Amino acid sequence: MSDIVVTEAGISAIDRVMEVMNSAFDPGYGEAWNEVQTMSMLAMPGVWLSLAWIGEQPVGFALNRQIVDEAELLLLAVSPDHRRQGVAMALIDRSRAILRQRNGHRLHLEVRHNNPAIELYKRAGFVQIGRRPGYYHGANGQIHDALTLSCALSQA
Ligand SMILES: CC(C)(COP(=O)(O)OP(=O)(O)OC[C@H]1O[C@@H](n2cnc3c(N)ncnc32)[C@H](O)[C@@H]1OP(=O)(O)O)[C@@H](O)C(=O)NCCC(=O)NCCS
Repeated sequence: MSDIVVTEAGISAIDRVMEVMNSAFDPGYGEAWNEVQTMSMLAMPGVWLSLAWIGEQPVGFALNRQIVDEAELLLLAVSPDHRRQGVAMALIDRSRAILRQRNGHRLHLEVRHNNPAIELYKRAGFVQIGRRPGYYHGANGQIHDALTLSCALSQA
């Protein structure tokens, strides 16, 4: 198992984030954000970015936004060459640790109903609390529902 290191980063890490973003998301679903969207979000209050590294290489990232005592995991992505090594789980753990430090109590997210990432989130302790019909507009006019998943933070 490779050593995964997670660090927080700001707008100066945008090139590294976009490298992972552009390799990770299937363009057919229109889920990746462009650079302007990502930078705009990074400039918003309550937003933080965590980058996962294996050695010198950025291999994944998580973008979170806290509002009062809850946060939303807005984006989570891992480069295809570095999957199934625990990178996403390390990023989720980091998101929860930071939210705890910020006195947050709940992490939630939206995920396309047929995204295999749902298995990851279930394994990480998220449960489904809602469904949003037609939330995602993919390529070729395809529409997909989103599931809303949520995880209460233990205070340990
Ligand atoms: C979803 C994603 C972030 C997972 O990253 P990852 O680093 O490979 O995930 P992890 O290695 O931490 O997975 C931990 C566990 O989650 C589950 N899991 C992760 N990816 C899975 C998949 N594609 N199918 C089924 N289960 C999966 C497994 O139980 C896995 O443990 P295992 O490898 O021992 O079986 C990655 O595939 C990705 O970037 N996908 C494209 C972007 C995306 O859809 N992001 C989520 C919505 S924003």
